[in-house]
Amino acid sequence: MRDWKKLWLTLLLLVCTGMVMTSCQSGRKEEEKTSLRIGISLYRGDDTFITNLCNILEEKAKEYEREKGIKVTLDIQDAKGSQNTQNNQVERFISLNCDVLCINLVDRMDASVIIDRAMTAGVPVVFFNRQPVEEDMNRWDQLYYVGVDAKETAVLQGEMVVDLYREHPEAIDRNGDGVVSYVMLEGETSHQDSLIRTEWSVQTLKDGGVPVEKITGGIANWERSQGSALMEQWLSEYPDTIELVISNNDDMALGAIDALERAQVSGVNIVGIDGTTQGLEALANGNLLGTVSANKENYAGAIVSLAAGSALRQALPAEYPLTDGKYYWTSQEILINKIEENQ
Ligand code: GAL
Repeated sequence: MRDWKKLWLTLLLLVCTGMVMTSCQSGRKEEEKTSLRIGISLYRGDDTFITNLCNILEEKAKEYEREKGIKVTLDIQDAKGSQNTQNNQVERFISLNCDVLCINLVDRMDASVIIDRAMTAGVPVVFFNRQPVEEDMNRWDQLYYVGVDAKETAVLQGEMVVDLYREHPEAIDRNGDGVVSYVMLEGETSHQDSLIRTEWSVQTLKDGGVPVEKITGGIANWERSQGSALMEQWLSEYPDTIELVISNNDDMALGAIDALERAQVSGVNIVGIDGTTQGLEALANGNLLGTVSANKENYAGAIVSLAAGSALRQALPAEYPLTDGKYYWTSQEILINKIEENQ
């Protein structure tokens, strides 16, 4: 009987000591957090939109550092289109004691290795721009996603043309035959944005009463050079037919502009998406009719705030309300080159 009592007392002592130690350790951890290390991996460092976003992300991190007095170190890596490379980068981030990861997935269907590693290490992850599948996102409550709603983008792109057509039908139906003949430049097939943008921009045109007819379309993987090559081919296959180029992003739209310039063809309207620096230049000089621009300040601000908040185990910033506790949808706007100014 006495032995049992002793055993109970010893166990009780051990449990209490453990509780005191744990609370001391966590207290110390919170007190010590005067710096944050964020590991960022980009699917491709040469993607224009991602580069634009990343520049603002660096500014937002500095802003956070100034406002909160917490030193923020960003470790930015380029996965160069390889999921394997990105997985290794994550491994390295974790071994370097990164407090949080911001991941622009190479393959949005293949997030499991990264999630496994992050969960084991207890390091939260903010995915952005390339959305992991729902099943993966639901594996842990420390996984977040920041992006734009693809359908909203597409509807805005369509509405921009609908409005212009209603105001100036002759400027959209260039040859006045009662039909707007268009070509479609599409992004990567595996990207959540490509299919939805392609489908809903055209659907919105039809719903808005624009009499459209598709000449052809093709995949140019978000790239200016591929957009340019496709447009060059279409210009020779369908001479004097294309009135409108609908592009899933600005870079491919710029490629189409390059091809038009080379072929010395004018009078074709081109609409893009992203509002990249280069896209905005083309808009200003009248080569691009319009674009749908994500609010990049808001986009990058959400990534930094969510990353810092989750790393510090703080309440997440009310400024960036989450859908289902994990998704933040960035706002977007239409930017157009006023047709009147071009007439
Ligand atoms: C899209 C963007 C493209 C490209 C892609 C990369 O949202 O419109 O230009 O950056 O993301 O994932």
